[in-house]
Amino acid sequence: MKINRLEIENVKRIHAAVIEPAQDGLTIIGGKNKQGKTSVLDAIAWALGGKKYQPSQAVNADSAIPPRLKVIMDNGLVVERKGKNSDLKVTDPTGKKGGQQLLDEFVEELALNLPKFMEASGKEKAGTLLQIIGVGEKLAGLEQQEKELYQERLYVGRTADQKEKFAAEQPYYPDAPQELVSPSELIRQQQDILARNGEKARIRANAAEAERKAAAAEQALSMAFGAAAEAEKRLEEAKAAYNKAVEEKEIAFSAADQAGEDESTAELEENISDIEAINIKVRANMNKLQAEEDAKEYRDKYQLLTQKIEDVRADKTALLDNADLPLPGLSVLDGELVYNGQKWDNMSSAEQMIVSTSIVRKLNPKCGFVLLDKLEAMDLDTLKDFGAWLEGEGLQAIATRVSTGDECSIIITDGYTEEKPDETPKSTGGWKAGMGF
Ligand SMILES: Nc1ncnc2c1ncn2[C@@H]1O[C@H](COP(=O)(O)OP(=O)(O)O)[C@@H](O)[C@H]1O
Ligand SMILES: [Mg+2]
Repeated sequence: MKINRLEIENVKRIHAAVIEPAQDGLTIIGGKNKQGKTSVLDAIAWALGGKKYQPSQAVNADSAIPPRLKVIMDNGLVVERKGKNSDLKVTDPTGKKGGQQLLDEFVEELALNLPKFMEASGKEKAGTLLQIIGVGEKLAGLEQQEKELYQERLYVGRTADQKEKFAAEQPYYPDAPQELVSPSELIRQQQDILARNGEKARIRANAAEAERKAAAAEQALSMAFGAAAEAEKRLEEAKAAYNKAVEEKEIAFSAADQAGEDESTAELEENISDIEAINIKVRANMNKLQAEEDAKEYRDKYQLLTQKIEDVRADKTALLDNADLPLPGLSVLDGELVYNGQKWDNMSSAEQMIVSTSIVRKLNPKCGFVLLDKLEAMDLDTLKDFGAWLEGEGLQAIATRVSTGDECSIIITDGYTEEKPDETPKSTGGWKAGMGF
């Protein structure tokens, strides 16, 4: 839906304006400052957008007559506001009456208020585009996923760093055994030796006792010899006792000989006292190994998350690559619009306008027009390119510009439109690309 004709009376700065914008491309309303250019756009927004677009000072202060608006659409629909209350009247070509609801069907709000789109945050603009191309929710889901994975990876990465640092700081003793050493076996060996040594001591004491006994027997023998006559009988006994004692002595001595020297427990004692020192190293080695394993677990997890993030990013790219974007070169990167690789703040104002217009156009394809205030930022070449682009898109743009140059289709002075002399007829009268000026 496009605008065929506008009649505006006593709205804001406008006294009386009649405009027949070109069907396609730019129609520039020119004029000096404060002549009523923006008032024209405000009046259109009010006429088509409804009450919420009613200017706070809608009535022209210099006029006693209430505002009157009339917009004739290209399908013959007539939109009027007039009378004391500026009541809306919508009449379709068959004469049937309608209301704001009918207008809302083909009027895209952002087409009436493009600055609202242009001034939105980068995120909001990108969100609008994604919503139009139908991937908003999916992409938001992927982005959420990516964010969560990223956060998780950040944490895992930091933990891996800490753990690796901790593992590296742990001491390591290459000469220590792998397993902890137990002192119980050594203690048992020591106790065995001590028991054997006790037995040997007992045998030796035995021998000493036998020796002492033999000596006593010998003494008794010599005493017996002294009293040999009367002790003949006892001599024999003593001889026998002597022989027995000597025999026992020999046995005992041979036992003592066999028992040999005492064994030393000194080495074992030393080993036992070494155990604690060895085990300190073994435990340290085990701790280091554990720390390294711990760190590796986190490093592996980090790598896994990196892979997942890359997958999600690939999904995002695929999602946008397959989407039906309203403008070649337009896409979304990191939640922001990009046009030919440039983010919003790096686009020229003409590019910003093209991007905005194409997005707004897609929001409601029924809306064939867009209002653009303050086109001063564009030089004539840019304006020409923009006009050509609009024509190519079959879009009608009604714009204002502080200028009275040839690029303007109509000039407003003191609230009145004046047709420029030597201008093409109004019905096709838009300034078009390629017209030359
Ligand atoms: N209701 C009104 N009656 C009369 N003058 C108005 C009204 N509303 C705004 N103006 C005046 O109109 C001028 C701005 O009009 P505008 O259409 O924005 O001009 P332009 O866009 O051509 O610079 C300002 O001087 C402002 O004070
Ligand atoms: Mg203005």
